Amino acid sequence: MPGDGAGGLTRALRIAAARLLFVTLVAMAAAPAYAVAAASSVALRPAHAAIASAHPMATAAGEEILGAGGNAFDAAVAVAAALTVVEPTGSGLGGGGFLLLHRARDGQDVMIDAREMAPAAATRDMFLDAAGEPDRQRATASALAAGIPGEPAALALLASKYGRLPLARSLAPAIRLARGGFPVYARLQGGIRLKLGELRRSPDAARIFLVKGEVPALGQLIRQPELAHTLELLASGGPRAFYEGPLAKKLVAGVRRMGGIWSEADFAAYRAIERQPVVGEYRGARIVSASPPASGGIALVDALNILAGFDLASLDSATRKHAIIEAMRRVHRDRAVWLGDPDFVPVPVARLTSPCYADGQRSSIRLDRATPSAALPGVALAGAGTQTTHFSILDDEGNRVAATLTLNLWFGTGLMVPGTGVFLNNQMDDFAIKAGAPNAYQLVGGEANAITPGKRMLSSSTPTFVESRRGVLIVGSPGGSYIIGMVLLATLDFLDGRSAAEIVSSPRFHHQYLPDVVQYEPGAFSDTERRTLAAYGHELHESSRRWGNMQAVVWDYTSGAVEAASDPRGAAGGISY
Ligand code: DON
Repeated sequence: MPGDGAGGLTRALRIAAARLLFVTLVAMAAAPAYAVAAASSVALRPAHAAIASAHPMATAAGEEILGAGGNAFDAAVAVAAALTVVEPTGSGLGGGGFLLLHRARDGQDVMIDAREMAPAAATRDMFLDAAGEPDRQRATASALAAGIPGEPAALALLASKYGRLPLARSLAPAIRLARGGFPVYARLQGGIRLKLGELRRSPDAARIFLVKGEVPALGQLIRQPELAHTLELLASGGPRAFYEGPLAKKLVAGVRRMGGIWSEADFAAYRAIERQPVVGEYRGARIVSASPPASGGIALVDALNILAGFDLASLDSATRKHAIIEAMRRVHRDRAVWLGDPDFVPVPVARLTSPCYADGQRSSIRLDRATPSAALPGVALAGAGTQTTHFSILDDEGNRVAATLTLNLWFGTGLMVPGTGVFLNNQMDDFAIKAGAPNAYQLVGGEANAITPGKRMLSSSTPTFVESRRGVLIVGSPGGSYIIGMVLLATLDFLDGRSAAEIVSSPRFHHQYLPDVVQYEPGAFSDTERRTLAAYGHELHESSRRWGNMQAVVWDYTSGAVEAASDPRGAAGGISY
């Protein structure tokens, strides 16, 4: 079942039984070292590897590469490449993302920023109509909506600098899947139905993903020979084969024929960038998360800093959730005001993640009253989704990858560049296309995230490691503007001792400053909690949809267990948000 727990659990379960006794003994013997391990990042070796991804065939691709002697970074190449084939709704070679890495050998944490980049011909007002209003169609469904892709550069960098196997070996499972085909599953079918109009406009996409112009039946085999060929070019020629030469020419020419503004110079200039992750501390745990141009890490660390001043465990459950909502409100406000591409705008990372700053934010929180968002100074935001993908990997040396990869909306623009098998992202919509005007996720922003040639658009991606005395959580999710709050709840759940399966399945609630409402999934609040939160002044909206497709790996130092779990929302059949 695509996206189901089995996608993440197979490997862990298969090996766990055989190793349980060994693991327990090792864990017991090593017990005194845990605090040291957590504090100094000198990892103990996990008993076995684990992979949680949104599709079992992608997980299997990663397992194959681990089995061939690859490490977590090689497996990440294999999983990401396989996801471009079997989950084209979420990520692809035409998209980008953020990959958080931890190398066990030297404890190094690094983030690969493979975010798409605005083409040199982009202009600040390129998505405004004659009346100066945002043209939503142009910003999300035209070739202009596509930034210069980053994922191929990230995969090549992962393989060459961090992996053990050649790029070609790690791409091999994806190439096989693209050529041999894979069966249509419910979530893909749902995405095709949603994007039918767009896919019909694009002859290559229609030929591959539709049957006589219609939505394919479940089980229909999808073969992608052009994508297989594109992957082969990357495998044999490395990143330059994608960003320069005949393939780059074909991509650029194809996009320009569709009305886009990509240039070969844009392609030649693109690089994946290694950046310092954002690091924070909460209740003795070390939080490592994505840095700008992803907003997740700053928002997560700031929210935890705000919450650190409350004794959450002693609060009644409604007030505890109220405090979390108020933290979410404040960090999303700051996201809208301050965050953007750090190579273009000064992002005050140190200030926004400092406990002193959070002290100030906390002082405006009353524990018996919602703060109206309008009472906070500044601009604002809102949003949803499961397009985009996340996977989490731990290998048996303790190397870790948390990767959130995206085309933005389902299939990105839905436009496929002829002859390449590559879908165009519509990530340009993650820029603030007009100050204060909401994007697809009702997120707003201002100057810091305005369009500038060569700039990378702000993302909500929050690939994260949480390291505590208990062990390590490797986590992240799609979900547009909901992502940050989801990872915050996951972090709190992990520190409260919950398992990976509990973390990915627990009901969610969300606040993003604007609109000034609390969205919640059925079951997130009891009747009493709802009454109390309403009495505090919160406007509560029960969501008809559940959101996210979280992928988590937990390595528990105490029991020695390694657990991988995939969000049940991705398996429920149909589309999850
Ligand atoms: O990078 C971002 O913030 C968005 N492009 C992510 C989109 C997303 O998660 C869609 N899925 N639900």
